[in-house]
Amino acid sequence: MSNMDGLTVTECKRCEALCVSRSQIVNGVGPADADLLFVGEGPGANEDEQGEPFVGRSGDVLDETLREVGLDRADVRITNCVRCRPPENRDPHKAELANCRDYLESEIELVDPELVVTLGKVPGEHLLERDVAVTGEAGDVTDMTVDGGPQPVMICVHPAATLYDPSQKETFRKTLEKAAEFTDGESGQKRLGDY
Ligand code: URA
Repeated sequence: MSNMDGLTVTECKRCEALCVSRSQIVNGVGPADADLLFVGEGPGANEDEQGEPFVGRSGDVLDETLREVGLDRADVRITNCVRCRPPENRDPHKAELANCRDYLESEIELVDPELVVTLGKVPGEHLLERDVAVTGEAGDVTDMTVDGGPQPVMICVHPAATLYDPSQKETFRKTLEKAAEFTDGESGQKRLGDY
């Protein structure tokens, strides 16, 4: 992957449309050895402008809820399925997800987190390669295969869902609480056997 330097994509022209409309490539942020890796769908307008995932209203909800469950944004890694903003906030096309997939897989492999948390339907379905009902399955953990080994993935609703449906707030908070417990040293071993 010549245009990826470690965790950072420095140059990419795989998607004809996105590489013209983007302001910049939005790479993941957070420690390279984080226990928790959050994966969103793709950059929105704020992220495209600032070059960092989840810095708009969804990011505020994510940061606030992380704090509520005793986590800090600075201690987790946050990335997206696609690194360039799809125009008008449309979902990324299948081909765009496919073009960006090896960057994401390489990030998961290098960070080697205890748990990947998918934020919303698009990343859940992309990583687990099946249909996902995010609200019903929130908090469920399944393995995906990374570098020949199992990588636990927890399904979660998108933080933006809590802005238009307040009942999703509790689902979101409970899922993050579960994710925090999963990566908590003491209970981690027990929980690994739970799913
Ligand atoms: N929504 C996403 O899925 N990703 C972001 O980075 C911001 C909003």
